Amino acid sequence: MQTYIITAPSNIAFLKYWGKQSRALQWPSGNSLSMTLSKSMTTTEVKFSSDGFDKIYFDDEKSPTQDEKILSQIKRIRQHLESDKFLTIKTRNTFPSSCGIASSASGLCAVTIGAFCCFLGCGSFDELESKGVTKDVLSNFSRLGSGSACRSMFGGYVSWYKGDSAKDQKVVRECDGSEFKLADLIFVLSSEKKLVGSTEAHDRAWSSPLFGPRLAIIEERHKQMLKAIHDKNFSQLGHLLELDALEMHAVIMTSKPPINYWDKNTANFVRWIREKRGEGTFEAYATIDAGPNVHVICKPEDGAKIIEEAKQRFSFETVISDELGDGPSITTKN
Ligand code: PMV
Repeated sequence: MQTYIITAPSNIAFLKYWGKQSRALQWPSGNSLSMTLSKSMTTTEVKFSSDGFDKIYFDDEKSPTQDEKILSQIKRIRQHLESDKFLTIKTRNTFPSSCGIASSASGLCAVTIGAFCCFLGCGSFDELESKGVTKDVLSNFSRLGSGSACRSMFGGYVSWYKGDSAKDQKVVRECDGSEFKLADLIFVLSSEKKLVGSTEAHDRAWSSPLFGPRLAIIEERHKQMLKAIHDKNFSQLGHLLELDALEMHAVIMTSKPPINYWDKNTANFVRWIREKRGEGTFEAYATIDAGPNVHVICKPEDGAKIIEEAKQRFSFETVISDELGDGPSITTKN
């Protein structure tokens, strides 16, 4: 029986998607912009199930897991394609999941591609496209599984535009980034699973007094970031992305009831990055997703020095030295 093997990347948002205009339509409150990564990946193997139900296995676990996001996504795609078949899915990440390294982005992107491949019997993006399933269609379905997954469908720098209505939203690969490659050093300070999942946390954004002011400036900030990428102006982009992450966490911390994804090391780490930048030791900027771990955005040539200095100052579980990547891939085996 044919098995479809999908490798899909995580992405790190420079302009954060936080809060939804509509949860049912999976429509964000504002634009977002991310860099697709090349090392933080999910690999998912998909084949038809011989039993009459879907089965999901994480890592090398022997018994299947009830992952609601993945199960709903398979169901959604099966209904769309009017199939009566069921899938067996084996999935693993190269990084710890559910602690702010966007595992749902790479995971749901991979499952979406894999389910379409298996139901339609397609072993490449070209074959999918010949059946009308373009990357835009795949990105759209990924978004329904997990918002940030829609940006993982493309390599380089990717925008998700909110649009004037849910059906007008679109995901655009702004550029492949080959002339402006950046690194993302992911310092895993803690790989404990977060207590409040992002779905619930997004809903609470509206209760923060800081959310309205954030929404008012998001489009302008997006334009400024795109200009910085276009001009290859790292300092400009870096200041904006750090500001945006701190602003998102200010919204999260002031929502009702409040959520705090940071631990004490997160705050110390951000302060250290800012101090080192101020002293001129290295130029790097911090960003943080929905978890305690710090992503340090820098030029690839500065990565080793930053990691060395960080080791002398902090204890952390691991550091993933990631960088700009090309997007997902499909292979098959019998
Ligand atoms: O895709 P979700 O629902 O897990 O939301 C994640 C949002 C952030 O990672 C915090 C920001 C982003 O734009 O990726």
